[in-house]
Amino acid sequence: MDSAQIRQKFLKFFEERGHAVVPSSSLVPEGDSSVLFTTAGMQQFKPYYLGSKDPIKDFGSKNTVSIQKSMRTSDIDEVGDESHLTFFEMLGNFSFGGYWKKEAIEYAHEFITKEMGLKIDYVTVFEGEEGVPEDTESAEIWKSIDSEIVIKKAGRKDNFWGPTGEEGPCGPTTEIYVNGLEIWNIVFNEYYQDKAKKLTKLEKLGIDTGMGLERLAMVSQNVSTLFETDLFANIISRLPDEVPIRIKRIVADHTRAIEAMLGENLQPSNKDQGYVLRRLIRRVLMYENKYVFKYVINSEVFDSERKKFNETLGSGLKQFERGVDPFILFTTYGFPIELTEEIAKEKGVAVDRKKFDEDFKQHQEISKAGMEQKFKGGLGGHSDMEVKLHTATHLLHQALHDVLGDEVGQKGSNITPERLRFDFSFPRKMTEEEKKRVEEIVNKKIAAALPVQHSVLQKEEALKTGARHFFDQKYPDEVSIYYIGESLESAYSKEFCGGPHVANIGELGHFRITNEESSSAGVRRIKAVLE
Ligand code: SER
Repeated sequence: MDSAQIRQKFLKFFEERGHAVVPSSSLVPEGDSSVLFTTAGMQQFKPYYLGSKDPIKDFGSKNTVSIQKSMRTSDIDEVGDESHLTFFEMLGNFSFGGYWKKEAIEYAHEFITKEMGLKIDYVTVFEGEEGVPEDTESAEIWKSIDSEIVIKKAGRKDNFWGPTGEEGPCGPTTEIYVNGLEIWNIVFNEYYQDKAKKLTKLEKLGIDTGMGLERLAMVSQNVSTLFETDLFANIISRLPDEVPIRIKRIVADHTRAIEAMLGENLQPSNKDQGYVLRRLIRRVLMYENKYVFKYVINSEVFDSERKKFNETLGSGLKQFERGVDPFILFTTYGFPIELTEEIAKEKGVAVDRKKFDEDFKQHQEISKAGMEQKFKGGLGGHSDMEVKLHTATHLLHQALHDVLGDEVGQKGSNITPERLRFDFSFPRKMTEEEKKRVEEIVNKKIAAALPVQHSVLQKEEALKTGARHFFDQKYPDEVSIYYIGESLESAYSKEFCGGPHVANIGELGHFRITNEESSSAGVRRIKAVLE
């Protein structure tokens, strides 16, 4: 079964059993700065487990199902073996005070054995510890479904999950193994763990399940590594034969991760999520260089990283030869530590990784402290003004189409707390009159106080809406569209975009173009402010 069919089957199975289908939340969790990335499907549902939000009001049901884009970066260095990934898709069904163990286990059993036609090797249940009893109830339920089933017991390390971040819902789990692999983790959210790691009982019992699409595809497609599934085969087949298999896998994993991150408008930088993105991109570039292949991720951001990287490669190598510190190589020449390590290995020199990690941590803390002072925080590290400028960029883009016609195509955009910058294809300088008209249109729309709304659609559907997007960029199967107006059909502006945006453009204030100039052949650059 290919991965697209698996996704569909999963959603349909739970939808038919009273679950509301909820789109994946962003890869960068909103309102939770204790974690860089979304690592589990339950993250977006934390308030529903705690009772601070009402699932009936928001989803029309106490039960939901989702396919969550997730990133786990703790094992970046392990990627390349058969089972580690940075980016993955997590299939999950959830209940907030709806059903409990019996239904959760029955659904999982039915889905794996009947829908997927797979054989369960064995299942595990929580063996108990001080304060949390052994989960005999789950064992009984498993036996009542299949008296032959093998049940193993395990402790906190394997059969207790959560919380994500510093505190939150958590609880004992039961896990399903197929072909020796853990396929599905079913969490019984019974407890709240606070910052001091103290457990208290939750008022409402919750179900949180997570099953890696990649692993399920692997057992269903009967292949022996994740990288032979249809999710990766396409990427791997584009690489030359002489590239070692470990490197092919790294490139394949990183490609999915990079595409997902670029799909959410993350930019490479030297801190937080941006640093992870830069590290992944530069690792791919490093292998491109070493094995002389040109990798195609159709994105301007990727190409511009390549350009920067190639520009600094030569001088960075010279500095390396002179024995320059790995941390300086990173901050000044953009050499990720892996690159330095790789070159060092070839030359038989040692790299002090521990010192690098310490320097890096310190650097992160300094820049974080700086950020917090500069902005009020919130909105995933974007200041209020940056969010406003982002929405204004969408308005500007559409207004440019209105005034200059459809020759206009977005080439790039960049936002600082002070101004927006927008690059677009257009063959000549704009006249004063044209600039004025663009400003007038944007300000008129702002005065109309249109709402900014958001929709997640299958890519095909999304393309049909006519929403603006990069023609040469690959998008995931499900894309997010932001539109400005009362409905998607009637919207003034529609774009494929991961946000964040203001809720209503009435908040933007007055829009003014401060500069219009050439950025490169056939590309114009506008800078504008909100005041
Ligand atoms: N939260 C659990 C996990 O990520 C189950 O979804 O494994």
